[in-house]
Amino acid sequence: MPGYPALRSLLFRLDAEAAHAAGMGALRAVQALPPLSAALRRHNLVDAPALVQTLFGRRFANPVGLAAGFDKDARVVRALPALGFGFAEVGTITPRPQPGNPRPRMFRLPEADSLQNALGFNNGGMEAARRRLARVWPAAIPLGVNVGKNKDTPADAALADYAALIGALSPFCDYLVVNLSSPNTPGLRDLQNESFVRAVLEAARGVTAKPVLVKIAPDLESGDAVALAEVAVDAGAAGIVATNTTNDYALLPGIPEAGGLSGKVLKEKSFRIFDAVAASLFGRAILISVGGVDSGAEAYRRIRAGASLVQIYTALVYQGPGLPRRMNRELLHLMERDGLKTIGEAVGADR
Ligand SMILES: Cc1cc2nc3c(=O)[nH]c(=O)nc-3n(C[C@H](O)[C@H](O)[C@H](O)COP(=O)(O)O)c2cc1C
Repeated sequence: MPGYPALRSLLFRLDAEAAHAAGMGALRAVQALPPLSAALRRHNLVDAPALVQTLFGRRFANPVGLAAGFDKDARVVRALPALGFGFAEVGTITPRPQPGNPRPRMFRLPEADSLQNALGFNNGGMEAARRRLARVWPAAIPLGVNVGKNKDTPADAALADYAALIGALSPFCDYLVVNLSSPNTPGLRDLQNESFVRAVLEAARGVTAKPVLVKIAPDLESGDAVALAEVAVDAGAAGIVATNTTNDYALLPGIPEAGGLSGKVLKEKSFRIFDAVAASLFGRAILISVGGVDSGAEAYRRIRAGASLVQIYTALVYQGPGLPRRMNRELLHLMERDGLKTIGEAVGADR
């Protein structure tokens, strides 16, 4: 979109969370004006036959999606196709509403094209989300719902949180994501163990037939990440989302040790974990790569490594709402250069 640098310099004068709220306000305005959202959608949504895939029983016009955490409460679902996304994931949603951590809790690291956030699953809870999702379902683009336990839910009740969330929200989405990998809920990453993963997928099978994926952290040893992802898929997970933000603060010496890092600083670390998981699971599960994806070329690298889909968050903040369109056009160009006629041929081409 022309003019994003000017808009960005205005937004970047605001605190990062206030700028996000301004972006959400703009998207609410877009969805309140159907002719405007239709016009933006026609311009931004790249819908070329070569990029189309059918996954989870739905048509994905293109493989570039919005990552979890941007639209935590499913407030702007109807505006997201206007940004050119082929799909979107809302959440993380918890059973009960919770305020998240004290502000400020979201920071830009502009020299590194990165963000640091310690939001802590601020959201309006499952009932409010369910009502909102019911109003927009079925969405114009495939929709994932990402779920997590409440901060004050003890570890031995975490399973009940996930079962309740999946039961309540699965009627209104195309896939669900069990988030075990946010660094901002104390103890959450401890649930990234084989017995919990098995139990949560078994509980999910009891309440939904929809695909359930597991989102993992980039801070696992790659052997542990692969083992966990394999357990998840063996226990019935339809796929893996890799990765969440990192708390490897050594990546940017001198920064405060709080919250999760995303964006460019995460790119290689996230790719390494994704690549290790894909080496084991490509062909057996749907793999979604997220973490530092910031261009069509980077999306193409993830896709060739085995990602059916990619997601972005931080790069959208730095590059603006024209990014999904640019990424998809670049993807088409790279596929044509390499003689790949459909995205199906590109997915896993390097495996
Ligand atoms: C401000 C912010 C909030 C986020 N909130 C969530 C969340 O609620 N649930 C989740 O699974 N991931 C969350 N994420 C992680 C993103 O979905 C994504 O995994 C991560 O940022 C890496 O992608 P990126 O480098 O494109 O931003 C959040 C990320 C950011 C920057």
